[in-house]
Amino acid sequence: MSNKIISTVEVVVVLVAAGCLVAQKTESEPGKARKQETRILNVLEEMLNDQYSAMLSVPPEDGKVLRLLAEATGAKHIVEVGTSNGYASIWFCLALRSTSGRLTTFEIDARRAALARENFKRAGVDKLVTLIVGDAHEKVTIIKEPIDIVFIDADKDGYLDYLNKLLPLVRPGGLIVAHDTTDAGSLMEDYLKAVTTKSELETIFLHEYTTGIGVTLKKRQYDNRSNLNLR
Ligand SMILES: C[S@@+](CC[C@H](N)C(=O)[O-])C[C@H]1O[C@@H](n2cnc3c(N)ncnc32)[C@H](O)[C@@H]1O
Repeated sequence: MSNKIISTVEVVVVLVAAGCLVAQKTESEPGKARKQETRILNVLEEMLNDQYSAMLSVPPEDGKVLRLLAEATGAKHIVEVGTSNGYASIWFCLALRSTSGRLTTFEIDARRAALARENFKRAGVDKLVTLIVGDAHEKVTIIKEPIDIVFIDADKDGYLDYLNKLLPLVRPGGLIVAHDTTDAGSLMEDYLKAVTTKSELETIFLHEYTTGIGVTLKKRQYDNRSNLNLR
């Protein structure tokens, strides 16, 4: 009889312990993700306060757009041209955590690249990012894998060259996002013409009265009358 009671107690203890473990696991995953997000947002805030002016980073409103586009497209591979200190890269990483994606980013200035690496570590996103130092006009050719989003934010008169080199790798349904389309007007005239006239592309402009973000869709299907020029 007493053996029976002991084994019943044992079963109850084991069941309760197992229940606690399951509860802990289901609670800890969102908790962990929230903590990581807070850590990343804290680093973005510090970068905004301490490093922003010298680094030519996108403003936070544009960072939010980048995150949103990456998350909405379920991006697995993003390529950024012009890392600077990694501010926009880290906005992308907020999305890449949930899409299980990764970022390849190019920066010509070794000092900025070193600062970006430090920032990636502090934000805990360094494993999501491959940073390549050098002239992106040459270096982008090392990319061979499909791309979901290209983000161009470097030398303005080089945008068309980046587009020509990377567009073949962008998957149909993927995006080419260009920063500073308002400011840099004539320097990127050739780029703006290409993304608003090529029949395989459809382009809209966001934040047109501030920084200007060109968002170009590589269409899945197209005919050569298309690309409504809405600019
Ligand atoms: C506007 S900043 C990039 C800001 C960054 N995307 C962000 O929002 O945090 C432009 C960066 O492009 C880099 N750059 C300019 N020409 C480049 C090139 N040919 N190859 C790679 N990087 C280049 C500059 O050194 C600079 O750091």
